[in-house]
Amino acid sequence: MNSNSNPTPTRIDDVTIMIFGASGDLTGRKLIPALFNLFKNGYLGGNCLIVGVARREKTNESFRKEMKTELGEEIPHEVMENHWNEFSSMLHYSRVDLTNQADYASLREEIGEWETERGLPGHRVVYLATSTSLFLPSIQNLSSVGMIPSDAEKMRVVIEKPFGRDFESARELSQDLSQLLNEDQIYRIDHYLGKETVQNILLFRFGNAIFEPLFNRNHIDHVQITVAESQGIEGGRGGYYDKSGALRDVLQNHALQLLCLVAMEPPSLFEAEHIRDEKLKVLQTLKPGRSGHVDEWAVAGQYAASSIRGEKVKGFVDEERIDPDSRTETFAAIEARIDNWRWAGVPFYLRTGKRMATRVTEIAIQFKLPPLHLFTTVECEGSMCEPANAQPNMLVFRIQPHEAISISFSTKRPGMQYRLQSMEMDFDFEGSFAVDLPAAYERLLLDVMRSDSTLFTRSDELEAAWNFIDPILKQWSQEDHRPELYPAGTWGPKGGNQLLSRNGHYWRAPVPK
Ligand code: BG6
Repeated sequence: MNSNSNPTPTRIDDVTIMIFGASGDLTGRKLIPALFNLFKNGYLGGNCLIVGVARREKTNESFRKEMKTELGEEIPHEVMENHWNEFSSMLHYSRVDLTNQADYASLREEIGEWETERGLPGHRVVYLATSTSLFLPSIQNLSSVGMIPSDAEKMRVVIEKPFGRDFESARELSQDLSQLLNEDQIYRIDHYLGKETVQNILLFRFGNAIFEPLFNRNHIDHVQITVAESQGIEGGRGGYYDKSGALRDVLQNHALQLLCLVAMEPPSLFEAEHIRDEKLKVLQTLKPGRSGHVDEWAVAGQYAASSIRGEKVKGFVDEERIDPDSRTETFAAIEARIDNWRWAGVPFYLRTGKRMATRVTEIAIQFKLPPLHLFTTVECEGSMCEPANAQPNMLVFRIQPHEAISISFSTKRPGMQYRLQSMEMDFDFEGSFAVDLPAAYERLLLDVMRSDSTLFTRSDELEAAWNFIDPILKQWSQEDHRPELYPAGTWGPKGGNQLLSRNGHYWRAPVPK
């Protein structure tokens, strides 16, 4: 089963989850907390087996202790008191050098014994939280010891990003993996799709009658997608990031997935394959925003040392494990078009960056102005108002922080004149539903366990995304290419602004509420 239009959040009680690369920071920071919350909230039963697999020497006990320390930083003390003992009994550790085929035989033995102790049926999930270079060898080695049956109920594999470095390598990896795994066994994770507000884009569009008729070139002027981070390169990630850059790290996956959700046609059924088919069509019709040289539609930037609110901040090249001559971009912005009937002529601007002015992820949809300006528009501060340019309606999906949807519109300013003022209607998720939103990894891990691939990317989607990005990668890898510097703590380089200003547009400077 690949899909479920309204999946019941069943309790999973018979799964073995193996986390390859368990010494990496994803395991302690995201995966174990997500599994713990699933357990605490009753989605994961206490009979499952969670096995950390990595090269370092550890015992079950030391692994549990380590995970407890990590969790303790996130989870309130009384919650830990109530649930940790039972949860931790599921945690095990197996020492494996993932490149060494001989180690897999003992992995198979250990897993088999632990499963027998618990009476588990051997329904397994392998989570590859490793570097890309280990994806294929891990699967080949598992296969060599008979741990890759072709039945998706018995073996599912979750693959972290980056899935390849470009179109060719992604295709090659897909082809190699397809020799050993069926497509319904592969779950390519893009954690943005697990975010509650990202899922809501589809529900908002296709669950309401009032907005969808406006989602097209007749009404929409342009779309801006921003994935901005205020942090720089966290300790330990420099080695990866310097080889990756903003385009590969975020734009090729998270930002393009957001674009797909906002631009895709309604699927005929709310099921994995139908949704993925529609996303694929968007990616296949994606075109550069301008013809000609890549520089016409893509801008690279790199943050330089600066001071943010009085505090000195390093430049990218001075960060840990970054080449001092690095030409890697920490900011990427593009102008794209979707060459189909619905969106012809509508610019889609995408930008992402580290060390930007604030941390915010949002999709802003700017509508066209009314055809006639019958009224004066004003901008007011208190009772002081000044004439201003007419403001277009704006629909904003704020994905983080403070998940919200806001709509701005013009309304009559009270008084004896006909004057318009732009106002905002805000819907705030957490406030309105008074619940803690589940973390992306909780939702996605549960979906893998219940075999629902709706929120995972298919190989053809990934290849289409790489295919679109490839010309930029090629251009930016040229010896003479240098990203434009921007001071840390700002909205990126000037070139990023020019991308829009030549079309009479400008980036929003969102201030999260
Ligand atoms: C990851 C990138 O995929 O997404 C990171 O590798 C980035 O560099 C992160 O910081 C952003 O995710 P989020 O959920 O914090 O917006």
